[in-house]
Amino acid sequence: MLSMTDIYIYLGRFHPLLVHLPIGMICGAVLLGIWKRFKPEAVSCQTLALIWTTSAASAILSALTGYLHANGNDYTKESLDIHKWSGIGLAVLSSVVAVFYLFERSVLWMHRLRTILVTSTFGLLIYTGHGGGSLTHGAEYLSISTLTEEASETTSRPASIDSADLFTDAVMPILQTKCSGCHNASKKKGGLLLTDHAAILRGGKTGVGVVPGDPTISELFRRVSLPSDHKEFMPTEGKAPLTEAQRDILEWWIEKGAPAAMPLAKTPPDPRMREVLTDYFQLNRDPMLDIKAEPASEDDLEALRAAGFQARRISASGAWLDVTYADSVKPDLSVLERVHEQLVWLQLPNCRLTDEDMEELSGLDNLFRLNLSQNPIGDDGMEQLKGLQRLEQLNIYGTQITGKSLSLLSGLPSLKKLFVWECPIDSASVIAVSRPGLEIVHQSR
Ligand code: HEC
Repeated sequence: MLSMTDIYIYLGRFHPLLVHLPIGMICGAVLLGIWKRFKPEAVSCQTLALIWTTSAASAILSALTGYLHANGNDYTKESLDIHKWSGIGLAVLSSVVAVFYLFERSVLWMHRLRTILVTSTFGLLIYTGHGGGSLTHGAEYLSISTLTEEASETTSRPASIDSADLFTDAVMPILQTKCSGCHNASKKKGGLLLTDHAAILRGGKTGVGVVPGDPTISELFRRVSLPSDHKEFMPTEGKAPLTEAQRDILEWWIEKGAPAAMPLAKTPPDPRMREVLTDYFQLNRDPMLDIKAEPASEDDLEALRAAGFQARRISASGAWLDVTYADSVKPDLSVLERVHEQLVWLQLPNCRLTDEDMEELSGLDNLFRLNLSQNPIGDDGMEQLKGLQRLEQLNIYGTQITGKSLSLLSGLPSLKKLFVWECPIDSASVIAVSRPGLEIVHQSR
């Protein structure tokens, strides 16, 4: 049997649809009013009276359904109250404007007052609309910074398991992408907030959300591990469920005591969990796949060839370029700027490059491999390479580079292999800068 409450909830669901009526109509009425200022004969007073009356009726209907909608949802009280009262205000104000138009008199003060009322109605409309949008999508929805945050989500993955923190790098991002749409400050479904550690543990209406050490009695974990057609399964409404890896990560985090900080260097995962995390952080993935560039144009390739470079596409479809210079006449490196996005491997051995030329390489931020061997370059030139965040292999064999540059080079975040044989570098400086993940191929001269 349908109860009255069910019917109210059902009618309330029309609110998000109905609100578009007053938005469209009030905007239209305001525009017509402005139009009438310029061309009084084009718009009659009856037309304006009619459109304002229907606008007011639709605003009243929206307010009524809004009232029912609020009761069926768990919005936070403050943001809801503001939206509720501005909605009611809008219904009242637009009705007053409609009355002014219906009982139109050619009296100056009435016209002035009406203009003020119309302007206020329009302002209140924008405010109410924005408030409603914030309730549905979260207050930050229309802030441009959220776009960049979402976009950076995949790029901010940790460089290794040992440098990751399970809570900040995995648990929070999982809850943010899959859950916080319904469990945030303005929309606390089930009374549950999933935006910070304390709130996650605290839980919602049912009680404790997470019991440190025991996933099986943690409501949060129970909800995501139910069969997906169970009515308590999370996320609801057919939103994308957690992947198995995401569920394993939450489970392991709770088992380990659900701490707010869990550096993996201190809590080493067992082999199975390590595998799950490697996949989850996409640590197996070739970072070259992160490069999203259009393939270089034929013009660019032609310019490279004209300057004496050999350019080869590394894959048939991909944009990656492998560029080699194999002459002993000093090349003009400025042409490389044209393909700075696509250029991933660059070989410039033995071609009389000096420190001054290195500046041309400083903007090639997609370089993965760079060969500068047997050029008369020294420490000053290396300064120019410190921005090459993706560089994995650097060959400076047979150059004048000394131990002074080694700490700068070992600080390149992606560097895995550094060839420094036949450089004026002693073994002590090599040992001083060695770090896990970096192989320094060295033999002093
Ligand atoms: C589409 C909206 C939506 C999404 C997304 C969503 N939830 Fe919910 N959640 C709800 C609603 C509605 C309730 C209240 C009804 C209920 O308890 O089933 C709720 C209740 C809960 C509760 C019970 C709170 C309590 O104490 O009663 C937990 C735990 C929960 N959600 C966890 C999650 C987790 C974890 C995720 C992400 C995997 C998630 N939810 C994603 C809508 C959502």
